[in-house]
Amino acid sequence: MATLRLGDKAPNFKAQTSEGEIDFYEYLGDGWGILFSHPADYTPVCTTELGTVAKYRKEFEKRNVKVMALSVDGVESHKGWIKDINETQHTNVDFPIIADEDRKVSDLYDMIHPNADSTFTVRSVYVIGPDKTIKLIITYPASTGRNFDELLRVIDSLQLTAYHKVATPANWKNGEDVVVSPSIPTEEAKQIFKKGVKEIKPYLRMTPQPNLD
Ligand code: BEZ
Repeated sequence: MATLRLGDKAPNFKAQTSEGEIDFYEYLGDGWGILFSHPADYTPVCTTELGTVAKYRKEFEKRNVKVMALSVDGVESHKGWIKDINETQHTNVDFPIIADEDRKVSDLYDMIHPNADSTFTVRSVYVIGPDKTIKLIITYPASTGRNFDELLRVIDSLQLTAYHKVATPANWKNGEDVVVSPSIPTEEAKQIFKKGVKEIKPYLRMTPQPNLD
């Protein structure tokens, strides 16, 4: 297994999930995707995480992102646990959870970090673009639940910077000013970004977020 890095093709797979057998690429279609692992079913932090993802369904839909979770537990375990998530987190888990009992997908995506835990997957996140390449990798330990607001924020940045010659500064949130890509000379940037370009330093140029009215 080769380590996956940003820009690599996200490996395709077929897997048993809580919603039947799924081909990953078919599931993603032409849109964006998130593949994320959690250590085990019927555990407290994971319960809150999957409940949160279910509650954010409209946010993911707005961004054309399909979500798929994974743990090394089986389909029946997933189905029973989903009932608990729905009950305790007041939501409806309607995205598939891979039952990766043979660790095929975990190995493919390097989600088991043996020096952290030899058996269970860590909290990996892969964001995959419409071209099926990997745009973001985040890894959290089992003891720390993820911040899904941060994940939405990063997706906003990834989607913006995929289509416009900008980058997003520290702590940027959707709607705030962005940085002009360093590769564009300021005079050219002024032609591209009609809302204006502020040159703070020759290498630090700000412009209003270009994909907003
Ligand atoms: C949890 O999801 O609560 C959890 C799972 C594994 C280790 C620690 C916490």
